[in-house]
Amino acid sequence: FCVHFLSDLHHHHPRYINVVFRRFNHFTVVFFAAIFMILPLVQGDLSYSFPEEMKRGSVIGNVAKDLGVDLNTFSSRKARVDFEGAPKHYFDIRMSTGDLITSDRIDRESICEKQPSCIMKIDLVLENPLELHRISLRVQDVNDNSPKFRQNLIEMEIRESADKGNRFSIEEAHDADIGQNDVQRYILQNNDNFALAVDSNKVELVLEKNLDREKQRDVSLLLRAIDGGSPQKSGTVVIHVTVLDANDNAPVFTQAVYKTTVSENSPPEKLVITVSASDADEGVNGDVTYQFGHVSDHDIRLFFIDPKTGQIKVTGEIDFEDKSSFEIRVQAKDGLGLTSYAKVVIDVKDVNDNAPAIYVKSLSNSTPENVSPGTEVGIINVQDRDSENNGLVRCSIQQNVPFNLVPSIKNYYSVVTTRQLDRELVSDYTIKIIATDEGSPPLSSFKTIQLSVADINDNPPMFEEQSYSAYVSENNKPGSTLCSVTARDPDWRQNGTVIYSLLPGEVNGASVSSYLSVN
Ligand SMILES: *[C@@H]1O[C@H](CO)[C@@H](O)[C@H](O)[C@H]1NC(C)=O
Repeated sequence: FCVHFLSDLHHHHPRYINVVFRRFNHFTVVFFAAIFMILPLVQGDLSYSFPEEMKRGSVIGNVAKDLGVDLNTFSSRKARVDFEGAPKHYFDIRMSTGDLITSDRIDRESICEKQPSCIMKIDLVLENPLELHRISLRVQDVNDNSPKFRQNLIEMEIRESADKGNRFSIEEAHDADIGQNDVQRYILQNNDNFALAVDSNKVELVLEKNLDREKQRDVSLLLRAIDGGSPQKSGTVVIHVTVLDANDNAPVFTQAVYKTTVSENSPPEKLVITVSASDADEGVNGDVTYQFGHVSDHDIRLFFIDPKTGQIKVTGEIDFEDKSSFEIRVQAKDGLGLTSYAKVVIDVKDVNDNAPAIYVKSLSNSTPENVSPGTEVGIINVQDRDSENNGLVRCSIQQNVPFNLVPSIKNYYSVVTTRQLDRELVSDYTIKIIATDEGSPPLSSFKTIQLSVADINDNPPMFEEQSYSAYVSENNKPGSTLCSVTARDPDWRQNGTVIYSLLPGEVNGASVSSYLSVN
């Protein structure tokens, strides 16, 4: 097991290997070094793949077996999944079997939205010695969402003089699933005038046969969007086309894609970007109004678009740690209802708005006073939800106490003793750990931990005087008090309780105890 473990770390955590090696003697190092050359390096992290929406308690994989850890060791080393700082506990370890199981509903769409690959990362922690394994969990998509159009009815107005081959945008359907389970194709109900043209970015009606208002004033078409899951799911929209006499042009956006950046925590009303579409028509036909296309429930409360000016403004709380980029469709519509679409990509800039959090992972309730300097008495973990420098944390103990923090794996620190402890001098320590990140301005937080020192019987009793003298007159009565002696011992409870006895000795050939006794 050690070989496996060390070689794992050799691969991924070159710094930690030193920490581990210090615990082995020279021969062990040579021995393992020899084995490194023979064995191929093993990939240290575990990864599993499982479908979303499994029942609670479903088994994802047997981590004990896959790490090659014996089940007894597994529980004695307090194997656990590390979550603190994460908003939700999705996984657990079943100690009796070594299985990693689900402990909550896992809905891929709410965790990863449209990301093509949904990977959750958790840490498996073993103690004594501290060991950390990263587990990557790939959540597979299940076809649990149907394609949906934003509206049930799309109203369009098209001039009768429109030429064959003219195209009219339709807002595409949206499916929260990904890949094959996302929208795959569209089917337009059979009709005399229109065909459908679909490419990756847009759905358009193509005029195949001229409209004639005198023959038909309006046309209703059913459009169906179908995903590729099994079973397949679909969604429909009715397109209602009114045939017009007038000449009219659809609005045209100045850009197909607008890109911008906004800082997290931007105040409400902050202008993010202005989109603009122009329309070649005059009067009401040229009046363009703007609105968002499909926006997820999550994003809809964050941004607002002014229908008249095309200004996109902040309305909600933008949190980089929650979501770092947005993609929103915007629609421009003229007075006659002709529409076109553009895409707005908003990247969020991180601000140092999360102080580091300190978690105590394990702590000895009491440490014997005779442990050698460098003994690990606790493990702490620090986390900062911000990114890059804003999330880099330094951690220290600034008081004058015989404890220090030694960086271990990733964001873990060992609390170790720096010198000999003495319970008779200090029996309890309150240690303040301070964590500061490297953002500007930096944020800090602190945590106090209590450590008590356990007694070792390391002090002999000491008489108050080296020698006591007493006088007694002859013919004394037995049972009278001669003198009293006192010895003290600073140790704890029975280790400090003094019992007196007379050492064997003789006076004029008779034993001392025949003359004297001590209480
Ligand atoms: C007394 O000392 C011994 C070791 O010398 C230790 O094991 C024991 O716990 C101590 N007793 C108390 C009451 O602290």
